[in-house]
Amino acid sequence: MLIFYNKADLNIYLNASRSNNSTIGFVPTMGALHEGHLSLLRESIKNNLQTVISIFVNPTQFNNPEDLAKYPRTLDNDVEKIKSISDKIIVYAPTVDDIYDGNTKSTHYNFDGLEHQMEGKFRQGHFDGVGTVVKRLFDIVKPTNAYFGEKDFQQLQIVKKLVEKEKIKVNIIGCTIFREQNGLAMSSRNERLTNLQREKAEIIYKTINKAKQLFGTKSAKEVIEFVTGQFKNDSLFELEYFEIADEATLLPCIRKSKNKKYRAFIAVFVNKIRLIDTISL
Ligand code: PAF
Repeated sequence: MLIFYNKADLNIYLNASRSNNSTIGFVPTMGALHEGHLSLLRESIKNNLQTVISIFVNPTQFNNPEDLAKYPRTLDNDVEKIKSISDKIIVYAPTVDDIYDGNTKSTHYNFDGLEHQMEGKFRQGHFDGVGTVVKRLFDIVKPTNAYFGEKDFQQLQIVKKLVEKEKIKVNIIGCTIFREQNGLAMSSRNERLTNLQREKAEIIYKTINKAKQLFGTKSAKEVIEFVTGQFKNDSLFELEYFEIADEATLLPCIRKSKNKKYRAFIAVFVNKIRLIDTISL
């Protein structure tokens, strides 16, 4: 399997294999791969002649230094998982300098307000960091199609906006959330949970599922009150936010409209480990 640690070598290889009808599928990740990532790789393999995965823990998208320091880094293990899918997948595992050329700073982006909602409110600068790294990765890999998980739905909308605003020629494909048996959305951060926390974290999916059910007959405000109540007396989980928002603008739902598609978004802390989830309503 080919593993590149710098963009120059990756580019020599990709440029040599690019032709008129070649297609490159790209799966950007921060490693600690799980079934969700592997499903993105499978989707890419199905639809492209070549598949590239990047494994890069991007420092500029972390607003919390402890979160960055503790983010799992498991390259050898990741490579084994990738191999189990196909040894033809190309791995790009750059250093910080290879991506940032000695200037580890984000570009400031205007994503038409998408960046000010939810994750943007609680993680200052996060989406500038995501936009910066995704733009750089797209410039390097020049993919035909790029695959992102819907767990980070706000990120998915922001990447679509980035592509539109920067006029990048790539199709962005959102893929459904992969869940553990108890419903917990798969995430690299789940690695940091104890067995008990992982088991109890089923409350997150159970609660948003119930919220989906309630949204059929209740107002957004009433559903938010229900969810807040579920976490109020829980000593293990701390609710950071629960919001019901318009899928397209990510603006909070004040009054339900038949013409809009809504989605619920949640962020919860389990002993400093931050978990997010989302469900279409
Ligand atoms: O979703 C992620 O893993 C990251 O935010 C991404 C898109 C790879 C950018 O670092």
